[in-house]
Amino acid sequence: MTADGKALLRIEGLSASYGQNDALEPSSLHVDLGEIVVVLGPNGAGKSTLMRAIMGLIATRGRIYFKGEEISQRPTRQRASAGVTLVPEGRGILGPLTVMENLELGAYGRYGRVPKHEIRRSFDKVFGLFPRLAERKAQKAGLMSGGEQQMLAVGRALMSDPSLLLLDEPSLGLAPRVTQEILQSLAALNKEGLTILLVEQKAPLALEIAGRAYVLRSGRVVAAMHTADIAGPEALAALYLGA
Ligand SMILES: Nc1ncnc2c1ncn2[C@@H]1O[C@H](COP(=O)(O)OP(=O)(O)O)[C@@H](O)[C@H]1O
Ligand SMILES: [Mg+2]
Repeated sequence: MTADGKALLRIEGLSASYGQNDALEPSSLHVDLGEIVVVLGPNGAGKSTLMRAIMGLIATRGRIYFKGEEISQRPTRQRASAGVTLVPEGRGILGPLTVMENLELGAYGRYGRVPKHEIRRSFDKVFGLFPRLAERKAQKAGLMSGGEQQMLAVGRALMSDPSLLLLDEPSLGLAPRVTQEILQSLAALNKEGLTILLVEQKAPLALEIAGRAYVLRSGRVVAAMHTADIAGPEALAALYLGA
């Protein structure tokens, strides 16, 4: 894939390993401005490794371009201030802190750097999207339901005002109905212009909101497609099984 001007994120031959274990073989993919792209794949496929690699949380070989600039060797902090934010697997919210405190932490890098009203606007956006967080501002995060904690994790990520939101298995441990609710909020955010790269094992739900999908297996991108071209559950199963 060559630079086409509209790719917000472009990855070329990116690989990563843990010691001797190659978790991600040289892989290439891109996410265009305004897209929702989903990375599907079974447990151990390398999905979280890909997310960590994009965020700069592990050492990588290969190239990552964001907004046309190479960020492959930049520290995580700089990738974040450039507009990349990760909602990690397991959510990573701070249980003993309140909803409000968790959200404030999400905006940490912006205090003193942007006018206060912009941060207030982010709070309004988060509370508009997730009214349940607005009702529970003073609640300790650890005492909320799994779905509410995932909303908080997404909300905290939004507080950094990202232009690319990375989500690592937001559905983990959630009932289908709650997952659907979270995915619909992601679709709403995308309608407002946010570009999203989502990792999921629960393919059918994620495919409802994504425009394109990649399939990762044993650390390799084995398929790339437009979700409109996926014929049905059997076609998807075949992709997973490598048929
Ligand atoms: N911290 C780690 N140390 C060593 N190996 C790891 C570590 N994290 C993941 N792996 C290995 O890397 C591979 C990819 O893992 P991961 O990216 O977590 O997959 P996925 O998110 O698709 O389930 C797996 O073989 C896994 O066992
Ligand atoms: Mg994972």
